[in-house]
Amino acid sequence: MKILIVGGGGREHTIAWSVAKSPKADKIYCAPGNAGIAEYAECVNIGAMEFDKLVAFAKEKAIDLTIIGMDDPLAGGIVDEFEKEGLRVFGPRKNAAVIEASKAFSKDLMKKYQIPTAAYESFDDSAKALEYLEQAQFPIVLKADGLALGKGVLICQTLEEAKEGVRTIMQEKKFGDAGNTMVVEEFMTGREVSVLAFVDGKTVKTMTSAQDHKRAKDGDQGLNTGGMGTFSPSPFYTPEIDEFCQKHIFQPTVDAMRQEGRPFTGILFFGLMLTKDGPKVLEYNARFGDPEAQVVLPRMENDIIEVIEACLAGTLSDVDLTFEDNAAVCVVLASQGYPLAYEKGIPMQGFERFKGKDGYYCFHAGTKLDGDTIVTNGGRVLGITAKGRDLKEARKNAYEATEWISFANKYMRNDIGKAIDEA
Ligand code: AMP
Ligand code: GLY
Repeated sequence: MKILIVGGGGREHTIAWSVAKSPKADKIYCAPGNAGIAEYAECVNIGAMEFDKLVAFAKEKAIDLTIIGMDDPLAGGIVDEFEKEGLRVFGPRKNAAVIEASKAFSKDLMKKYQIPTAAYESFDDSAKALEYLEQAQFPIVLKADGLALGKGVLICQTLEEAKEGVRTIMQEKKFGDAGNTMVVEEFMTGREVSVLAFVDGKTVKTMTSAQDHKRAKDGDQGLNTGGMGTFSPSPFYTPEIDEFCQKHIFQPTVDAMRQEGRPFTGILFFGLMLTKDGPKVLEYNARFGDPEAQVVLPRMENDIIEVIEACLAGTLSDVDLTFEDNAAVCVVLASQGYPLAYEKGIPMQGFERFKGKDGYYCFHAGTKLDGDTIVTNGGRVLGITAKGRDLKEARKNAYEATEWISFANKYMRNDIGKAIDEA
């Protein structure tokens, strides 16, 4: 089969690595890809939002299957464009990707179908939002409705902070049109867990759990980022919690989308908080998590192409999804300054250290080739993943491997997986 992957971050590198293991994959392309993906795939210089060019490329190369990794093209309807041309494509259509692209939509869906989540109100008028906040309880959470690279969420301790937040999101439009509507949400406490699932429109099969670290600095300090590191499985996601979530969250969400005439096919990501009142949904994403994919896919025993084909055929219920009985940890190497300003184009060394080392992976997030040299090309640069028999060993291995790579403004958190010690 000829396969095209759309995207160019750590998640797409992990997908490309996983696809490359399949005996079904004869040739892999990735648009736009990056320096690491180039090891498995021919990178094509087309942006993820250039739908016409991507469709034309898929037709010209007679691509058998296109996998969409990123949220923006899904929200923009890339799947509908491919399907219109009779091309096979994996990901939700625009009317289903809205489960991630609009927080107001997802909150209304959960309310209507009684899926556990934080209490909330939505506003498209900043004056009404300000009026509401006057009598609200603090802390409170403000969320820009649309896609904002994981950064459109503000946790406000006081009324003053919340007023400032409304100005930032709705008036100054710091997150662009994503802030035309805003959700104001009850603040919850508990451990966070990410559960990713394959969905074929009606059946949902969950993968092993993971936990992300969203803040930039150690001790969960600093700004929200796309994710600074992950571990899998989460020791806090017990079989009892899984049973509850399957019954009250996962299947009900997929059923609700079908009921609404928006059947979901693709990867559905459940961002959960384990509160004292039980698990609740923080957010949905319509794609693999990044860097959750980097710890989940290396542990998956199935052939990813077979699972994707079952999703497209509506036969996911026949698939037995299995994961290795071990653990994985991913530490993100970022550019100093991320998620704000940072330099690009800095040469990196040490990639050869990963060659032939089973259970160690260097997934590229923001890199490119400058002649023969791999240089930094983003805030999150690499995802260093290692497996181990258990979480502690995986963490030790991952941190050891972070030392193999050097570049001038390398930054990482030193406490990824610290929660493991409390389990
Ligand atoms: P989201 O993009 O909606 O997952 O939000 C980003 C992060 O903000 C989450 O991973 C949580 O750490 C935090 N967060 C979001 N919503 C809430 C909430 N209702 N209560 C507490 N923390 C939240
Ligand atoms: N790591 C969180 C996300 O992919 O949205």
